[in-house]
Amino acid sequence: MADETKKNTTEPAGPRDARLWSLDPEPDTPEMSRRQFFIKLGVGSLVVAGAGTALFAYQYLSPNVLYEPSPVVDAGKPDQYPAESVTLDPATGIYVVRAAEGFYALSAVCTHLGCLTAFKPEQGIIACPCHGSKFRRDGTKIEGPAPKPLPWLRVWLSDEGDLMVDRSTVVPERQYVRV
Ligand code: FES
Repeated sequence: MADETKKNTTEPAGPRDARLWSLDPEPDTPEMSRRQFFIKLGVGSLVVAGAGTALFAYQYLSPNVLYEPSPVVDAGKPDQYPAESVTLDPATGIYVVRAAEGFYALSAVCTHLGCLTAFKPEQGIIACPCHGSKFRRDGTKIEGPAPKPLPWLRVWLSDEGDLMVDRSTVVPERQYVRV
């Protein structure tokens, strides 16, 4: 009985087994393992090389563009600004001023070396903390090293009635938006 079991597990018994053996002409030898290793190594190298080429092609064909935020700021509804107020938006570096004549916007960036200025309500002026330049609420310079006044920026009302400010467009002074 033990001899029969041994015979069945080590040798093909019938024509079906012989056909299966013929599909695998080379038994699992050390040489076969080495060949399979090199085939896998070659396929792996091709995959890595292909991925590198695809990555290089993607980077080469992608536009080399720096996306910056829009210079246009939605400053909200006009009625949120009290009369005679000067409101700084530190995130965008602009003042929205509500004067008796209407609305206007100033750049809050000092024209000396670019520090962010601040409105001093107790004095009614705009002051730069870096080197002491001072400006009136209409942007004109009072004193300090700043070479120019704070520029006026383009302001308009959107279709929804919001105040819009374009930080990239300087306009002549005294251009008010009346609401
Ligand atoms: S940066 Fe404002 S005074 Fe120098």
